Amino acid sequence: MFKIYNLLIPLFLCTSFCAIGQTHEMTIATDKAGATIQPTMYGLFFEDINYGADGGLYAELIKNRSFEFPQALMGWKTFGKIDLLDDGPFPRNPHYIRLSPSGHSQKWTGLENEGFFGIGVKKDESYRFSVWARLPQGQEQGRLRIELAIPGANAENQSIAQAELSIDSPEWKKYQVILQPNTTEAEAVLRVFLTSNTVVDLEHLSLFPVDTWRGHENGLRKDLVQALYDIRPGVFRFPGGCIVEGTDLGTRYNWKNSIGPVENRPLNENRWHYTFTYRFFPDYYQSYGLGFFEFFQLAEEIGAAPLPVLNCGLACQYQNSDASAHASLKELDPYIQDALDLIEFANGTPDSEWGKIRAEMGHPNPFHLKFIAIGNEQWGPEYVERLELFVQAIRKAHPEIQIIGSSGPNSEGEQFDYLWPEMKRLQVDLVDEHFYRPEKWFLSQGNRYDHYDRKGPKVFAGEYACHGQGKKWNHFHAALLEAAFMTGLERNADIVHMATYAPLLAHIEGWQWRPDMIWFDNLQCVRTSSYYVQQLFSRNKGSHVLPLTMNQKPVAGNEDQDGLFASAVWDNTTQEIIVKVVNTSDRPQAITLHFDGLKSQEGLSIGKCIRLHADEQTLDNTLDHPLAIQPEEFPINISGHTLQQTLSPYSFSIYKFQKNLKKK
Ligand code: AHR
Repeated sequence: MFKIYNLLIPLFLCTSFCAIGQTHEMTIATDKAGATIQPTMYGLFFEDINYGADGGLYAELIKNRSFEFPQALMGWKTFGKIDLLDDGPFPRNPHYIRLSPSGHSQKWTGLENEGFFGIGVKKDESYRFSVWARLPQGQEQGRLRIELAIPGANAENQSIAQAELSIDSPEWKKYQVILQPNTTEAEAVLRVFLTSNTVVDLEHLSLFPVDTWRGHENGLRKDLVQALYDIRPGVFRFPGGCIVEGTDLGTRYNWKNSIGPVENRPLNENRWHYTFTYRFFPDYYQSYGLGFFEFFQLAEEIGAAPLPVLNCGLACQYQNSDASAHASLKELDPYIQDALDLIEFANGTPDSEWGKIRAEMGHPNPFHLKFIAIGNEQWGPEYVERLELFVQAIRKAHPEIQIIGSSGPNSEGEQFDYLWPEMKRLQVDLVDEHFYRPEKWFLSQGNRYDHYDRKGPKVFAGEYACHGQGKKWNHFHAALLEAAFMTGLERNADIVHMATYAPLLAHIEGWQWRPDMIWFDNLQCVRTSSYYVQQLFSRNKGSHVLPLTMNQKPVAGNEDQDGLFASAVWDNTTQEIIVKVVNTSDRPQAITLHFDGLKSQEGLSIGKCIRLHADEQTLDNTLDHPLAIQPEEFPINISGHTLQQTLSPYSFSIYKFQKNLKKK
């Protein structure tokens, strides 16, 4: 993963800069391991924004596969004799298509799907096409030709993969066939031709790569999950964000609709499809194919604690100022029941009502749910009075579950000041804070948690990203300031128990919101500088905070300390001392790390430095240059218990040394 450099490079880095000022003395008390760093400390927040689910992480390649979009044929082109009918085999997705012979041998009946910004396929890889079909007129056999094709007029032969499918039953039945394209294409289409003189009904046309993450048939894109896994996240928050609230309550994320056979999961409008006029996507819906079962399974497979967020009876408060848009207190019972049922779905035995559904879906063992968030970015007394009822019910039925409340959409201000005391009064376990803020904020907030009340709820920094002023896109400088800020999270790990950057994913052609952690197109993805910052913290999080001073003073975590930010941890498993230092200044900075408190028989082994740095602050990795900025790793020799280094301007460095016993 990391570029490996030899021993000479740090020397070069140290000597190649001029104008180095005062040396900053950083002292790490290696014998004073303090607060435990929670396994959940650094995690991921997934929301279906920017085509993050359908068209993104969810590997389905067909858009509107069940003809349930309000415009039933959106995403499809039809030719020949086609009828749309609505008494299909799946009651919650009743529409289907009837293909009839055109009555003319040279005139095809069939249909074509455009996918999500096209269908991305790779040469010689296998793609599973499946469809529910029947012969409604009882004829003996129907035949279909399935093709992947390049729609462009310049292709001599548009078809890049073909297969035949025989339909042999008057009853609805699932059929499938494998397609292997002879070329790689980012924007292919799927074509289905009727090749027999027979009437054939088709429903739920689906196309997945066979090679999904862990090979699941209703699976996820392997490259994207690999990127998530590579972070080693401790917690996985899902499914949003604003989509939990919905544009209105009717379009809120309803987890019960997202489980069971995919063919019968009803479509939901995505709250992000017409949110911004400058990015308008009227075809953005949620198939729920990536539903709560898949979310829990994903969390398990990437080693993260699942953290579902549930609607609290409030629709998006930005978009709904009228009280009648929300569920009243009297109407809240079904919402509370949803939360209780979810806990049973995740943790209940296979003979419980909801645990049975989980078991039938292939996971008899519990998902070990420990956390639940009630409400996303809610505010006002209308939130607090609803949350209170949830808290009472969950505490009574499931005292083992930790409840997360909200501090509103802002990192400070009236609502924030009102909500925190209310969260304390309700005794929630953690409070979710959100901050999409400019450079200045990130530079001034490294000590944000130093003075938080240690007796109240813990902190979950549930959504944050540096939105550079005038530069609301990914670039290295923003990521660097996120790293600076995160040293403050780490130094305060006794109170900060979770942190998740947001948003996570964005389709290069379908984004609404940026910056984002991982960008992708139909074939590949790119890890941004912010991704690497998250990864470096997560993979070097250690187990306990170590006290660290700079020039004999506690690290203040703000700009005043010459633009330097730092934290230190001890890792019980690897027996390592890990120091993170961020130089946000435009100058090289000399530092000396003093590892205090080592016993006479203890020493430090050859260690390593991992460094993230970019020559150009306004740039980031792109799909064309995905590896332009990535961590570099090189060995570091330490003599005794001190290390002198020169940090390059605008850099994030991690120093790791293993504590060992000196040879006698
Ligand atoms: O992450 C994007 C959005 O930002 C989330 O949906 C919402 O919670 C916040 O306003």
